[in-house]
Amino acid sequence: MNPISLQILHWYEQNKRDLPWRQTVDPYKIWISEIILQQTRVDQGLEYYLRFVEKWPDVSKLAAASEQEVLKMWQGLGYYSRARNMLFAAKQIMEAFEGNFPKTATKLKSLKGIGDYTAAAIASIAFNEAIPVIDGNVYRVLSRIYSEETPIDSHASKKVFRALADDLLVKTKAGDFNQAIMEFGALQCVPKNPDCASCPLSDACLAFANNKVEQLPVKSKKVKIRKRFLNYFILSGKWHDECHTVLRYRSEGDVWQGLYDFPCIETSQQTELDDMKNEAFYKTISDLAEEIIPVEGIRKHLLTHQHLMARFYLVKCKNGFERLKNNSLSLVSQSKIGEYPLPRLIDQFLTDNENIFDNC
Ligand code: ADE
Repeated sequence: MNPISLQILHWYEQNKRDLPWRQTVDPYKIWISEIILQQTRVDQGLEYYLRFVEKWPDVSKLAAASEQEVLKMWQGLGYYSRARNMLFAAKQIMEAFEGNFPKTATKLKSLKGIGDYTAAAIASIAFNEAIPVIDGNVYRVLSRIYSEETPIDSHASKKVFRALADDLLVKTKAGDFNQAIMEFGALQCVPKNPDCASCPLSDACLAFANNKVEQLPVKSKKVKIRKRFLNYFILSGKWHDECHTVLRYRSEGDVWQGLYDFPCIETSQQTELDDMKNEAFYKTISDLAEEIIPVEGIRKHLLTHQHLMARFYLVKCKNGFERLKNNSLSLVSQSKIGEYPLPRLIDQFLTDNENIFDNC
């Protein structure tokens, strides 16, 4: 066995976190944990994992859930396509695989939302298939140990890093080794200011020897960030004697597909109410409004590829605002908003402005 692999396994035995998905070889639970842990830190993902597997303890239960229920469970985790794809894949398993979880990485990749990384993680951890996983942590560990400067987001990187990972993989303990190298990246070989003085691999680490730890891994592309300005209209009025608002369903092609937010006018720059006067939707709203009250402040919400700047306006409506209802706009009782899956931006706004609907 490569001595570096042995050291990583040894480090893992002494330092691994005690996590619920490490107490099981149920491929369903490992799948849920791996999808949650993509783009999400363990401390944030843990709660979601526990609630998810409690509500849907096996793939048949998940397959029978509605998209709205699954998105509600996912609320606040972001990257909502992960949740939609999981529901789709659960149905694929029930239909195409007769409820039996596929057991090889190749077959797992036929499921929606399961790519190279997730397939390798499930196949190795649940079924001990000798296949390496390569996530962001593994890229970092490998690039440093071998002082490998191929940019990790380049076309060539997959082949280069796959060869390095294959070489280190302990084939008889693939699941443990894969978790060990990911955990080593998450806890020891961290992106910023790693504590190389306490690292058991520092003697073998070429980046440490070359004083290049902080420069690795190399990334060639800068993430392009789009700024978006969202002007939200929170309608409030009576319908059938009950206080209602209007929620908008975000449909296909949207980062928030399947979630609900408020009706909104998106502008290319920071905008005052007056500047929206010519927008058709603003005219519709002002016809229905008794009063439009700006809510103090601009909320910033940072996503990986987008920075959202949101302003909110409370629109006190006259009778008849239910006319707004259409394919994407629903009239919702104010007491039932919590049942809908909402983007975190909206959920936080409502938490911070819990009196917004007083005196509807
Ligand atoms: N990151 C994602 N999945 C992981 C796992 N199974 N162990 C350690 N880190 C991880």
